[in-house]
Amino acid sequence: MLEHKRSAPDGDDGEQATLDLLASGKLEIEGRLVDASNATLYCTIDVSGRGRNGQVACVYKPIAGERPLWDFPTGTLAGREVAAYVISRAAGWDVVPPTVMRDGPFGPGMCQLWIDHDTDVDLIALSRRTDHAGLRDMAVFDAVVNNADRKIGHLLPVTDGHLYGCDHGVCFAEDYKLRTVLWQWRGKTLPRRSLEALRRLNAQLNEDGLEAELSSLLTASEISATRIRVETLLKHRVHPFPPSDWPAIPWPPV
Ligand SMILES: Nc1ncnc2c1ncn2[C@@H]1O[C@H](COP(=O)(O)OP(=O)(O)O)[C@@H](O)[C@H]1O
Ligand SMILES: [Mg+2]
Repeated sequence: MLEHKRSAPDGDDGEQATLDLLASGKLEIEGRLVDASNATLYCTIDVSGRGRNGQVACVYKPIAGERPLWDFPTGTLAGREVAAYVISRAAGWDVVPPTVMRDGPFGPGMCQLWIDHDTDVDLIALSRRTDHAGLRDMAVFDAVVNNADRKIGHLLPVTDGHLYGCDHGVCFAEDYKLRTVLWQWRGKTLPRRSLEALRRLNAQLNEDGLEAELSSLLTASEISATRIRVETLLKHRVHPFPPSDWPAIPWPPV
């Protein structure tokens, strides 16, 4: 299986090559992920015809397999998953593995690089850490995208210490819906690296390129709510508090 080389914040050739492969490679469905709530398919793409050897693994979630959600009446889970990737990349967080929208065996859907995560890591212990920069980046990213489903099982640590996350279909609500297992920094001052990432993102959100990319994935009011969340974080410079007295945690938390 091929290794994915992480990109620089502005995206490099390696990242673009991965995106191209995910967008245009032939998807072979290998199986369905059993713990998934929607149609979440594990697939491979044969890359031997592309001057390389082996396969790339990915997740394909067809829009046709999405269950309707009363609290997310518009848009698609797949569109929000791709938008989450776009935001993560623009800020330079690299929280979300490369993700594209594409056609597939069950119609249009999202296709995301599979991350072979480090199974030696105790995910419950990881989720409680306060000294993990990547985990803290993820908490800020979740605040930006208004993630309503950051579970412990959505943490994908890799062996070099980087942390990815998955399952971003229920993000970008206009109302405050942050539901996460990562409340350990609530009310704490944002570190400098978070402010830098937020400034980078804020600048790009005010440019046409990112706006155009997001507008095929989210509604105009979801994009403007995202912009407001970024501005609010930059103004107050603290990690958000939960919506009420008690932390809003997804169920089940794992
Ligand atoms: N890109 C990925 N790389 C590695 N594992 C993944 C990836 N996406 C999903 N998974 C694994 O598959 C499980 C189910 O996928 P998820 O995106 O949570 O589906 P659902 O939307 O149905 O809950 C995740 O909890 C995670 O363990
Ligand atoms: Mg899930």
